[in-house]
Amino acid sequence: MQNDRRVLDLNRRQGKSCRLFYSDDPVKIIRARGQYLFDEAGTQYLDCISNVQHVGHCHPHITEAAAAQMDLLNTNTRFLHDNIVMYAERLAATLPEKLCVFYFVNSGSEANDLALRLAQQYTQHEDVIVLDHAYHGHLKSLIDISPYKFRKLTGQKEWAPLPDTYRGLYGADLPDPGQAYADAVKDLIEQVQSKGRKIAAFFAESLPSVGGQVILPNGYSAKVAEYVHSAGGVFVADEVQSGFGRVGTHFWAFQLQGEHFCPDILTMGKPMGNGHPLACVVTTPEIASAFTANGVEYFNTFGGNPVSCAIGLAVLDVIEKEDLRGNAIKVGAVLKELFRGLHSKHEIVGDVRGVGLFVGLELVTDRKLKTPATNTAAYVVKRLKEDHIVVSTDGPWDNVLKFKPPMCFSVENAEQVAQSIDRILTGRKCDVWTSTTTGFNLVFNPPQTRYQDHEP
Ligand SMILES: Cc1ncc(COP(=O)(O)O)c(C=O)c1O
Repeated sequence: MQNDRRVLDLNRRQGKSCRLFYSDDPVKIIRARGQYLFDEAGTQYLDCISNVQHVGHCHPHITEAAAAQMDLLNTNTRFLHDNIVMYAERLAATLPEKLCVFYFVNSGSEANDLALRLAQQYTQHEDVIVLDHAYHGHLKSLIDISPYKFRKLTGQKEWAPLPDTYRGLYGADLPDPGQAYADAVKDLIEQVQSKGRKIAAFFAESLPSVGGQVILPNGYSAKVAEYVHSAGGVFVADEVQSGFGRVGTHFWAFQLQGEHFCPDILTMGKPMGNGHPLACVVTTPEIASAFTANGVEYFNTFGGNPVSCAIGLAVLDVIEKEDLRGNAIKVGAVLKELFRGLHSKHEIVGDVRGVGLFVGLELVTDRKLKTPATNTAAYVVKRLKEDHIVVSTDGPWDNVLKFKPPMCFSVENAEQVAQSIDRILTGRKCDVWTSTTTGFNLVFNPPQTRYQDHEP
């Protein structure tokens, strides 16, 4: 009742296109620590999706660094300040040598918008190739390159197939799916060129996330880069979600594609400030020089200010001091192993994939046909909430349960999640069946029916 009132108040004051998690029974979180969220009643929820609060919610080292710098000075990049230099140096140390010129901004969208400008200025070309179901941000320029959004709007666009070896055009059973998917990009380049247009950039997440926690096949990025370069374009890697050690073995997800691959422009955001709005574009001296040559100043009021950079430095400190990459390797492996157990036990689990603490569990009603179990995925999310576990779905059919928790997620947390999902999927006491109109109904004194799903 109290919550209904709050939703009404919110809807009066905030545009209705802004949506809530669990919109039919939203949660009011009032504090958080590490991987845990707490509501007004003090109920603790395990957070499996806040990849922004990368080193843990409200980490004391970050709070202290922010407060100390706020107490001292906060200006902008038109004054000299050591923080921005130290921060750029620390980030440069994580990157290949050629990525060494930084532009600090406030959000992933700003970073991608600037990346687009850099690419178009450098190449003097216009067109951009993106992956199916990609999302690169909410600015007009980025809705234009985000099939995830623009497909719902009018206007014809083209995109390359999502290199998803589970349900995509080319499966993992092919000898070289990376080459096959890269060749699809080559075909698209040729199509675009045959219409007299020119490629400025290929834009892709290093691990497509809204696409359904997809892992790019080996060799894909290097081959695509080769094709894009020969068309005079540049390769932009969007690591707004996947960067800062989430994959464990490497600091950047693009590095999973091998040492010889390096994007020309890399964008970063979400985890960078652990919740503080901090994002960045890094590129090569050649691309940066072309951008300078247009004679237009780039000024960003808040980008790279001393407080933001102090926070960014503190995030890097925590990743190192608490060995969060090591933790991502260890806990990610346990999570995947437990999920593989669920795959063996439950027909509805079609695929388990992931690297480090970037993991997806894809639900299907038919393993052969790979029919997306969209309704069951939504049902599992609801039931997990009752177990005080916050999870959400992704992928073109919203049938992939996604796991991108704060990097302090523990083995015990992984076990709790897997046990809970197991119980829900085993739930022959299952309290869900399909209704032709609404998808599913929840029944609290259920008959002994099995869960069902149907094609969306
Ligand atoms: C891959 C990717 N790129 C860019 C963005 C846009 O970032 P922001 O919401 O900080 O503008 C997002 C946001 O969800 C994203 O997931």
